[in-house]
Amino acid sequence: MKKAKICTITSVKGGTGKTTFTLNLAAVLKLMKKSVLVIDLDVTAGDVAARLDLEHEKDLYNCYEDIRNHTFEQVEDYIYPYTDGIDVLPAPKDPRYANKIETGFLTYLLSKVSLKYDIILIDTNHLLSPLNLVAFDYSDSIYYVINNECMNLRAMRSMSSVFEDMESDKMVVVLNDSTKKETGQYSIADIKNLIKREVDYRIPQSFYQKKYDKYVMNGIVFLLDKKVRKSSKRAIKVYQSIAQSLLRED
Ligand SMILES: Nc1ncnc2c1ncn2[C@@H]1O[C@H](COP(=O)(O)OP(=O)(O)O)[C@@H](O)[C@H]1O
Ligand SMILES: [Mg+2]
Repeated sequence: MKKAKICTITSVKGGTGKTTFTLNLAAVLKLMKKSVLVIDLDVTAGDVAARLDLEHEKDLYNCYEDIRNHTFEQVEDYIYPYTDGIDVLPAPKDPRYANKIETGFLTYLLSKVSLKYDIILIDTNHLLSPLNLVAFDYSDSIYYVINNECMNLRAMRSMSSVFEDMESDKMVVVLNDSTKKETGQYSIADIKNLIKREVDYRIPQSFYQKKYDKYVMNGIVFLLDKKVRKSSKRAIKVYQSIAQSLLRED
């Protein structure tokens, strides 16, 4: 049986568009007829379920607790379908419990789901927490979503050298120009210079959605919406090439 490709989505600072990126990548993979599980590992502030307007009784913490208490039956009890091809394992509803989740849990969880999906996308926060580091270990690729801001780029440069030190080639840098109405001040050449590495992908500024809140309130993923798809040809191409490259990896 084929094991799922695992990708973690992270950043060096908050608010760079990780969750938006994760969900739109899931959308493109779904449109390519792949089955995707989104695990919301942003344990203290995860908003995947809220963004999808997904009602759910259980979450990641319940799963962890049930395993510890030997009341765990099957992983499906904690997973909710958003649409055909995209399932979600929501982050803990109560952030107070979040930091209790131990790293070994993630190993167990991934062993339970990795034969059931083509792709597993793990949406995280920007911290190098023990849980995130375990997610990194299991990932085929680690997507760093950055934006065009001085401090973000400086932090990315440090992170890039950390990965070099670890001799890890899992890092993929995604410059996200779509979180703001206006374009950032640095050119792509400046950015490469600042972070001392290549920018692998760039989500164009044209993917900025004026009606962001309207879509979010209605639990709509941009790239699953016909109207957005029509006006997002460039962004779709970028997402498709990301999807193809992650399906290609060995
Ligand atoms: N395509 C987009 N169009 C408009 N605003 C966006 C877009 N992507 C992100 N944003 C803005 O950036 C904020 C952070 O995005 P989000 O995906 O939640 O980032 P993160 O998961 O890194 O915190 C959103 O609340 C929204 O205001
Ligand atoms: Mg997020």
